Amino acid sequence: MQVLAVASEIYPLVKTGGLADVAGALPLALGEIGVQVKSLMPAYPAVLPKLGGAPAHEVLAIPDLFGGPARVLEARHAGLDLLLLDAPHLYDRLGGPYISETGADHPDNWARFAALSKAAALIADGAIPGFQPNILHAHDWQAGLAPVYVAFGGGRRVRSVMTIHNLAFQGAFAPEVFAKLGLPRSAWSLEGVEYYGSVGFLKGGLHAADVVTTVSPTYAEEILTGEGGMGLDGLLAGRGNRLVGIVNGIDTDAWDPETDAALAATYTTETLARRQENKRALEAEFGLPPADTPIFCVISRLTWQKGMDVLCEAVDDIVASGVRLCIFGSGDRMIEGAFLAAHGRHPQAVGVRIGYDEALAHRIQGGADAIIIPSRFEPCGLTQLCGLRYGCVPVVSRVGGLADTVINANHAAVQSNVATGTIFAPVTAKSLHDAVVRTRNLFNEPALWQAMQKRGMATDVSWSVSAARYADLYRDLLKEGAQ
Ligand code: ADP
Ligand code: GLC
Repeated sequence: MQVLAVASEIYPLVKTGGLADVAGALPLALGEIGVQVKSLMPAYPAVLPKLGGAPAHEVLAIPDLFGGPARVLEARHAGLDLLLLDAPHLYDRLGGPYISETGADHPDNWARFAALSKAAALIADGAIPGFQPNILHAHDWQAGLAPVYVAFGGGRRVRSVMTIHNLAFQGAFAPEVFAKLGLPRSAWSLEGVEYYGSVGFLKGGLHAADVVTTVSPTYAEEILTGEGGMGLDGLLAGRGNRLVGIVNGIDTDAWDPETDAALAATYTTETLARRQENKRALEAEFGLPPADTPIFCVISRLTWQKGMDVLCEAVDDIVASGVRLCIFGSGDRMIEGAFLAAHGRHPQAVGVRIGYDEALAHRIQGGADAIIIPSRFEPCGLTQLCGLRYGCVPVVSRVGGLADTVINANHAAVQSNVATGTIFAPVTAKSLHDAVVRTRNLFNEPALWQAMQKRGMATDVSWSVSAARYADLYRDLLKEGAQ
């Protein structure tokens, strides 16, 4: 079995969110169980310098890829087998992978990611000598056209998997784009990329792929509803048992409190008291005076999806309940401003850092008592998994992967010693505040609290179970293809 994975971001080379974590960690976990994966991503300007001493060599030249020459470079980095699509006319520019310096989408995103998908289809068709993938695994809308190019390309049919990480981002473009994609006219249809009169990259992939997966079982159900389906619920329901939810894991080597170099003090379940040192460091870093009251943290995109406006609304009540907050992330300017204003009102109790910093995310998980994730929807969520692993107790809304990975400390769960966090619904300031108070009450019972932290730390949040499920899925597809 040879797998070609396609994603627009891969940790540790480029990351804007959980997609990169998954695209970086799943191939490693699959490798451990004997499934070989090569991962294709764009060679953004930041990528090649990060390879350091490991040289990239050309394995494919594409004379004209959406308006300019491109080549595919092969490299190994951080245990990953990478195929880097080097196309300066598409990727060599300032800003992030999707947006310019001013925060607007790159105007030619359709071409940038159609090109990624087209290159994937060429590779799937055997364009790189000595590499013949038989599984194509496309992640999110940026890779959504890959299964479409395969299905409509008339070439060799590899089996394809399309994974939804977030249905809110669908890659919908003006209908004029269709003529430039190089797809046959038959692809302008319900079976192709046509989507309410525009071009849908993700929509096309969801139709064309042999199997659709998403990143938790509960999200797989939610996206079949009118509310969660974001216009694609009908199509997804039509896929029947070809839609599968497989929960994400995290890289438990990168996220390991026993060895984490970012922490002031490393610790295990046996040395939990050492977390205190990290809490003191965290207070200093966020400008809060040292105290014994609990610190609840946020490490997140500060957006509506993440329920951050709801948290802003609840801040004053939370502080009044004797809970301090360390807020870290960036996103919506209004929400950033609201948190900074909350810091202004409560300088001793609310610390705010706006930005993006991988090591700081680790230090917060290692020092805060709990992590708040009040998402309105959450396909999987990774920060609650990191929280569990670091004894930073998750306080989460009952949606998507949050509901699938945390065991709510209700009466029965506490009595039978299985709780790992607090779950609340609906996503309102009142219900969030109630959950914070319930969690604070548990914190005030040290024996109960430490038992809960230790259970979280002992929870299997690795990729081992889920990587095996992907491997089974690939195998089933190959069997089917052979019939
Ligand atoms: P999403 O991909 O929807 O943003 P996830 O929970 O799946 O949410 O993944 C978010 C990832 O990004 C996690 O690895 C988290 O630690 C990281 N992260 C989020 N905000 C920041 C930040 N401000 N600095 C560093 N890492 C962050
Ligand atoms: C998306 C989702 C998040 C998920 C991540 C990785 O960014 O918003 O819930 O954990 O993808 O699958």
